[in-house]
Amino acid sequence: MQQFNNYKVTYRSPSNIAFIKYWGKKGRQLPINPSLSMTLSNSYTETTVEFSQSESGFELVSIEVEGVESLKFREKLLTFFNSIIDELSFLKNYKITIKTSNTFPHSAGIASSASGMSALCLCLLSLEAKLENKTLDLNRVSFFSRIASGSASRSIFPQFAHWGESFLDDSSNEFAREIHFENLPKLYDAIAIVSSSEKSVSSSSGHALIESHPYKEGRILQANHNFKAMVSSLRDNNLNEFGVLLEEEALSLHALMMSSNPSFILLEAQSLEVIKLIREFRLKTNLPLYFTIDAGPNIHMIYPENNKDEIEDFINTTIKPLSKKIIFDCRGEGPQFMGESFE
Ligand code: DP6
Repeated sequence: MQQFNNYKVTYRSPSNIAFIKYWGKKGRQLPINPSLSMTLSNSYTETTVEFSQSESGFELVSIEVEGVESLKFREKLLTFFNSIIDELSFLKNYKITIKTSNTFPHSAGIASSASGMSALCLCLLSLEAKLENKTLDLNRVSFFSRIASGSASRSIFPQFAHWGESFLDDSSNEFAREIHFENLPKLYDAIAIVSSSEKSVSSSSGHALIESHPYKEGRILQANHNFKAMVSSLRDNNLNEFGVLLEEEALSLHALMMSSNPSFILLEAQSLEVIKLIREFRLKTNLPLYFTIDAGPNIHMIYPENNKDEIEDFINTTIKPLSKKIIFDCRGEGPQFMGESFE
């Protein structure tokens, strides 16, 4: 076992957009159904963690988000550290400071917990690997990221990731796995920000409402069916079939929210307007532009490289005037190690 007085490491980790949605959990943050996501490229968190030897046990000295100390994150992180400290017991020898920033605006409909928590876990496990003289085990990083935030488990891998037991042989509820689609052109994600106000209901409380939801069993069947069908459509580069499943997943997620008790609605009037325009455009042009939506009002528009120019022209002329902003992103290659120092 190595010893360091100080260790400092920086990682960039991307967000991801779920094509098959994780909604509902059991046990220790395990999903009730398999999910599938595309790892993004431009939307990422960059996190630096500095560890210094501590005589008095683990301490979170400070957590700066965009250069400002954040009490909100501090509480969330302390809960996370409490839940994992016995498994990552080397942390008991260190006090840590965390500095983190995102390339995308807060509440932009891009999961900052996915990129933020995966970036943090990459930094933590990078010290563990260093102490034990081992290479970083990405499944282990995904495992701890999952405990911090379910969707973060999928951000660890390039291109596409799946998480949760499914028909795929390597699937697991404990961590996500990488999946590649050789025949598929590069996919793009343009996010129409129709509102950037804070979510009225957090994902975590939304997940909890599935427990007693009258459609729970039906949702589990639907998600498993859609997961299998979507993997096969992506393997065959059948974008028509993919698009039908993608939109069904997004609208089912929001239908579950609307029919929860208490019910909640995250879509805005402009979200529906954008959906309608996308469908009209598709009908008129036959071009493969589809939408998905996470737990918020903003619309993710998904399209392949082949038709990028015509589709982005439509987005800029027709969708942009209805939105606060469009964020252009695409399939990415996963987290990036940015450097380390130690003594
Ligand atoms: C709608 O991963 O944010 O984006 O595990 O409670 O942190 P916690 O929830 P979170 O939920 C994401 C929900 C979703 C769908 C998805 O990303 O699969």
